[in-house]
Amino acid sequence: MTQRRIPRWQDLRQFLQVKPIDLDGKRRRLSSVADVWDIRRIARRRTPAVPFDYVDGAAEGEVSLRRARQAWRDVEFHPAVLSPVGDLDVSQTIFDHRVAFPLGICPTGFVRMMNHEGEIAAGQAAADAGVPYNLSTMGTTSLEDLAGATPGGWNWFQLYLWKDRERSVALVERAKAAGYDTIVLTVDCPVAGARLRDVRNGMTIPPRLTPKTFLNGALRPAWVWNFLTTEPLRFASLDSWNGTVAEIANAMFDPTISIEDVEWLREQWDGNLVVKGIQTVTDARRVHDAGADAVWLSNHGGRQLDRAPIPLHLLPRVREALGDDATILIDTGIMNGADVVTAIAQGADMAMIGRAYLYGLMAAGREGVAKVLSVMRAEYTRTLQLLGVARTADLGPQHVRLLRRLSPIPDPRVDDAPNDEGRIPLARTR
Ligand SMILES: Cc1cc2nc3c(=O)[nH]c(=O)nc-3n(C[C@H](O)[C@H](O)[C@H](O)COP(=O)(O)O)c2cc1C
Repeated sequence: MTQRRIPRWQDLRQFLQVKPIDLDGKRRRLSSVADVWDIRRIARRRTPAVPFDYVDGAAEGEVSLRRARQAWRDVEFHPAVLSPVGDLDVSQTIFDHRVAFPLGICPTGFVRMMNHEGEIAAGQAAADAGVPYNLSTMGTTSLEDLAGATPGGWNWFQLYLWKDRERSVALVERAKAAGYDTIVLTVDCPVAGARLRDVRNGMTIPPRLTPKTFLNGALRPAWVWNFLTTEPLRFASLDSWNGTVAEIANAMFDPTISIEDVEWLREQWDGNLVVKGIQTVTDARRVHDAGADAVWLSNHGGRQLDRAPIPLHLLPRVREALGDDATILIDTGIMNGADVVTAIAQGADMAMIGRAYLYGLMAAGREGVAKVLSVMRAEYTRTLQLLGVARTADLGPQHVRLLRRLSPIPDPRVDDAPNDEGRIPLARTR
C-alpha cells in the first residue's frame, strides 16, 4: 500500500515559483534554444517566406543539400575512454591566425534582406566569438563599412570574377586598402543555379510587393518595419540592380572562367588566396598547383549543381592528394558542432557555415548569430571531450569513421587514378 500524506506548503512552494518574464525579446526568444534547428524554427516564424526560402532552399530538387546534411550524420565516433580531457584547447591556426575553434562564417549575398542588422551584426558576432567572417561580392554592406565596424575581427572578402576583369581588380584593391588579408574566389558559379523556391515565390531584388507577399509580411510585422525603416539594400560591389537573383548572377558571372584566372588572380593578390567550390580531387590539385593557399570543398550549399558530390566524402581523398601542409576548408550542410569535429578529424583545417548563421541572424540579429556560434562551440567542445580528445590538434581519422551510404559505385572508366573518384580510403593517422 502506498503511504499518502497531505502536501505541506514548504514542499509545494518550490514548484510554484513563477519565472519572471524577460522583457528583452531577443533574449526571451533565444532562452530555450537547444540547437541550430531550434533557431531555424524561430527564423521561419519571424521572416517572410521570400527571404526565408532564399536562405533555406537549394537548387532544383535540393538533393545535394539533403545528401550533404545526411552525410554529416552518417558517421560513427570512436571515443578513447580514460583519456584526460580537463586541459582543453579547442583553438585552431589558419594562415598564422589563431581562431577560437575551427569554424568560420561563409560568404552569403543579400544579408540585409534576411535581417536589417545585416553583415555588420554577423561580422561583430563572429569577431566576438573569435572566428572569421566572409563578406560576399553580393553583400549588402560595403567592404569599408564592415571593416570599420569590426575592429577586432578577421574578415575575408569573397570574389566572383566579373566578366569585366578590371572591376574585379578594383574590388581586390579596395579589399586590400580596407585591410582584408584573405580573398576567397568562388568558382562553382559559371552560371546561376536554379533555385526553384525563388522562382515559385517570384523573388526579386529589391523584393516586390504582391498580394501574397503582402499577406505573408503582415504576419511578420517586425521584419517589415525593420526593412522599411532602415537603409535601402545596396550592394558591397554592385552599383545597383533590379531583377531576379538569377538575372543579377547571370549578368555578373563569367561562364569563361578557367584555371588561368586563378593563376591571374594569384599574380594580382599577395594575400591569402582561397578557392571555393572545389568538388573533385583533380580540381583540388589544379587550384593547389595554381598557387591557391587553401582549397574550399563546397557545392555551394547545394545551391548550384544539384546531385553534386558530397563534400565530406571528398575530404579524406583531397587531404591524401594534397598532403599534410595544404589548408583545406569545407562547407555544405553543417548544422552542429559535432559536424565540425567530423570535418577536422577527416582532414579539414576549418569547417564553414552558411545557413546556420543566417538562421541565427533571422531569429535575433547579432545576438542570434552569437547564439549559433556559442551553441556550436559548446557542441564541438563536448563532442571532443566525449571522444577523449583535449585539443583540436589531436583530432584524427581514428576518431570518426564515415559510414558508407550514397558513396559512388566504383567505375573503372573514371577510377584509373588511385583514390581519385569513388572510394573512401581507410582511416589513416595524420
Ligand atoms: C542565402 C545564401 C547566399 C549565398 N551567397 C553566396 C555568395 O554570395 N557567395 C558565395 O561564394 N557563396 C554563397 N553562398 C554559399 C555559402 O557560401 C556556402 O557555400 C553554403 O551556404 C554552405 O552550405 P550551408 O548553408 O549548408 O552551411 C550562399 C549561401 C546562402 C545560403
